[in-house]
Amino acid sequence: MKNKALCLSAAMILLMASCKVNDKAQASASKAYEGKEMTDEYDGKINELVSKMTLEEKVGMLHGYSMFTNKGVERLGIPEVHMADGPLGIREELERMSWAPLHLETDYATYFPAGGGLSATWNPAMANLFGTSIGEEARAREKDVLLAPAFNIIRTPLGGRTFEYMTEDPFLNKSLVVPYVVGVQDQNVAACIKHYAANNQETNRGSVDVNMDERTLREVYLPAFEAAVKDAKAYSVMGAYNKFRGDYLCENKYMLQDILRDEWGFKGIVISDWDAVHSTKKALEAGTDLEMGTNAPSFDEFWLANPLIKAVKEGKVAEAEIDKHVKRTLKMLYTLKAMGDATDRVKGSINTEAHFKNAYAIASESVVLLKNSANMLPLQTEGVKSIAVIGANATAKHAQGGFGAGVKTKREVTPLDALKAKLPQSITINYAKGYETKFKPKANIKYGDVTVERAETINELDPKMVAEAVAAAKKSDVAILFVGANRDYETEASDRVDLKLPFGQEALISAVKAANPKTIVVFVAGSPYDLNQVEKENQTILWSWYNGSEGGNALADVILGKVNPSGKLPWTMPKRIEDSPAHATNSFPGGATEEYKEGILVGYRWFDTKNIAPLYPFGYGLSYTTFELANAKTDKESYTKDETITVTLDLKNTGKADGKEVVQLYVSKAESKVQRSAKELKGFAKTAVKVGNSEKVSIEVPVKELAYYDIATKSWVVEPGTYTFKLGTSSRDIKAEVSVTVE
Ligand code: BGC
Repeated sequence: MKNKALCLSAAMILLMASCKVNDKAQASASKAYEGKEMTDEYDGKINELVSKMTLEEKVGMLHGYSMFTNKGVERLGIPEVHMADGPLGIREELERMSWAPLHLETDYATYFPAGGGLSATWNPAMANLFGTSIGEEARAREKDVLLAPAFNIIRTPLGGRTFEYMTEDPFLNKSLVVPYVVGVQDQNVAACIKHYAANNQETNRGSVDVNMDERTLREVYLPAFEAAVKDAKAYSVMGAYNKFRGDYLCENKYMLQDILRDEWGFKGIVISDWDAVHSTKKALEAGTDLEMGTNAPSFDEFWLANPLIKAVKEGKVAEAEIDKHVKRTLKMLYTLKAMGDATDRVKGSINTEAHFKNAYAIASESVVLLKNSANMLPLQTEGVKSIAVIGANATAKHAQGGFGAGVKTKREVTPLDALKAKLPQSITINYAKGYETKFKPKANIKYGDVTVERAETINELDPKMVAEAVAAAKKSDVAILFVGANRDYETEASDRVDLKLPFGQEALISAVKAANPKTIVVFVAGSPYDLNQVEKENQTILWSWYNGSEGGNALADVILGKVNPSGKLPWTMPKRIEDSPAHATNSFPGGATEEYKEGILVGYRWFDTKNIAPLYPFGYGLSYTTFELANAKTDKESYTKDETITVTLDLKNTGKADGKEVVQLYVSKAESKVQRSAKELKGFAKTAVKVGNSEKVSIEVPVKELAYYDIATKSWVVEPGTYTFKLGTSSRDIKAEVSVTVE
């Protein structure tokens, strides 16, 4: 409930700002994103059903019986639980017993922006629109559980799933995850929030034992999970691959029972990540309800299959324990209207113009303008006769790739497609690819193994391709480079080795810039890279993401000025990897164990507390207009711990274009009993302001948000004293400060 006030105020501002969301999303935005509890209505029926089931039938419900279902009980009318990946859109249908695609004509889906793109919108209404749309697609494909959202904290920029996860900040994370989950579950589909928990690296992900202090766990790694359970009422949770304090997540009583169920009141089911279970009795009794994985050697051999039947027969596991898990799954099925008498289960829709439009709306709020010092953007096409479009990402498609995060889609508009359609016919486009992107097959990859086919030549350019790119740039009035990465280079199951731009792109960018000073550099990527040289040599830098079916259109509209960029970085872009907390403390990638030595100082909290300048700070992103913040004040001077602080200010558009700005509220506490980060995000609001106008921005901070987790009393404590709120447009661009006292 903690972030509800904020979401509400952000949502209301958005409504007033008439941003591009469909009516449905606007309506749900105003609900302040409260999820619905699972229904108790059928508890009597559930008891009756379970009393009729054989041990074998019950156990069949607790493990995978195809790649993405468990086993139903036909004679009792219990359907299979149908699950589908994933965070970027509904994955294509696979063979029941293998990862091989079925190559159907009927399983095309909308490709939605990856986590980085969604979080760069800094817009809870966009997260709700995302959840609603992807939930509708899941229903159209008759799924019960969507294996998304994925939102582990981005602890290191090198993490393979950085593109898929959302942010380095726990507050931004939960502000987006809650509306996303509510949107999905409003469609009678369970969100499976993943990966619970401390799943922050791919290196040794199947075995690494993560250790961190309790305060760090509670303040950084759990808040979005906690809010997804308590506020959004998520119906399922995915147990991660890794261990936490010695126990695998899927057999971790502390995480699954003590925190998830006893403290947070979780009523749904825990589904294991694929092949993440390692025991029978321990996993079941700790709280795993459904073991999923691959069909090797056979589904009957799963830990929660025949070995479980045997354990019951030998008296090692009580049948009542099994009943408990079966009942949870049945409760979820009734809640989703997959069972019972309800005839109004959402039917859904997929691959529709409405969903492409929603994907566009999200993408168009996510593009981040990193630099525009020569005012080359928006690009003025008057008098322009030719444009060089250079780089593999001008034409690359990013919907597929990255294991569970791939989507088979009919529509993926590339930047080149979009520019061709949107530029005046009189302008000639001179295209050159500039560099190749080839990879080794992904067998047994581990940390450091993601390299191109010819490992030694990863950064070597083909001189002929460079010459073509330079020639295209020279003969054109303007050059636009589309560079960055792709879904093979940034992927599940492997972390990156360093921040270097792959494929020799740095040299290519320099060569193009030397050939044509009017060069615009556009990155399409999902994780931080070393942009030092690019930043030194260029005046115009734009950042886009693996941005969904309409990513190219959104990007082209930003370039051409139809859309004023309003995206903000959801993580810190460091100057050097050594500056990043997990690397500065030499605690990544670890070995068998991984100690999170940086503690609570994750992301910008580290950079700001240690006074290390990043290349681009958390929350950063420019606009084609300028804004001024004035008259920042709070509604009172002093508060008690159950009150909510309202901070208001005037946001004035002082430039020449209508635009949206994200006002960010960071809190600092000077004197404290415990270690404090220099700044912590505790509120934000995205507001549209017309040229010359001023809008009142209101950000609500429940005093409870100011609490720290006290390890001695195992509770959240709001320390009395003075708190300073720093209001700005990035974590490093603070424009106003106000202080309050908490009694
Ligand atoms: C991933 C999950 C995914 C599952 C099923 C695992 O490798 O970690 O995120 O949902 O596969 O595809």
